[in-house]
Amino acid sequence: MKIASRLVAGALAGLSFAAVAAPDAPPAPLSPALRAFLQGEMRGIATGVQAITVALATAEWDQAAATAVKIRDSYIRHRELSELQRRELEALPAGFHALDAAFHERAGRLAAAAAVHDGELAAYQLHRLVEGCIACHSQYVRYRFTGFGAPAAAEGGHQH
Ligand code: HEC
Repeated sequence: MKIASRLVAGALAGLSFAAVAAPDAPPAPLSPALRAFLQGEMRGIATGVQAITVALATAEWDQAAATAVKIRDSYIRHRELSELQRRELEALPAGFHALDAAFHERAGRLAAAAAVHDGELAAYQLHRLVEGCIACHSQYVRYRFTGFGAPAAAEGGHQH
């Protein structure tokens, strides 16, 4: 949503794996610079999610809400990207941007639940947030997270 307005420009940029990715094919990796940027953003998100888990468990509502707001607004850092990287990001598939927008919106709902001390709802939103990590990584980051998919037969226990 927040970046949807830039999608038109992104569609014209044609710089990234968007142009080559078949629906189910793992996309080619991003450029090293954009990868480094996203990895930094992701590490912040991952640390935040862990902190929120503990904050909810210990009724540190303000801390949980503030951290969730940071995650919600983390896309703002995209302003730090160079023009080239921004275009590469914008040219990622629409599905990626939809998951990204849903993810940040979910973080906002989590913040709202924590702000009214509703632990049950906040835990639910946290659960949905983690589903968002899995959805995006399993669809768009398989080139890196190769563990998505069925377990190998030898590990799966289904042997005859
Ligand atoms: C909309 C897509 C999207 C969502 C949602 C998302 N990620 Fe990521 N994640 C990425 C991309 C893209 C990378 C970069 C992969 C690469 O090329 O190395 C990444 C990388 C990572 C990394 C590796 C960072 C590193 O140091 O290399 C971690 C950890 C991570 N994500 C955690 C999370 C967690 C936890 C969530 C949910 C709370 C999440 N991500 C949600 C797209 C997403």
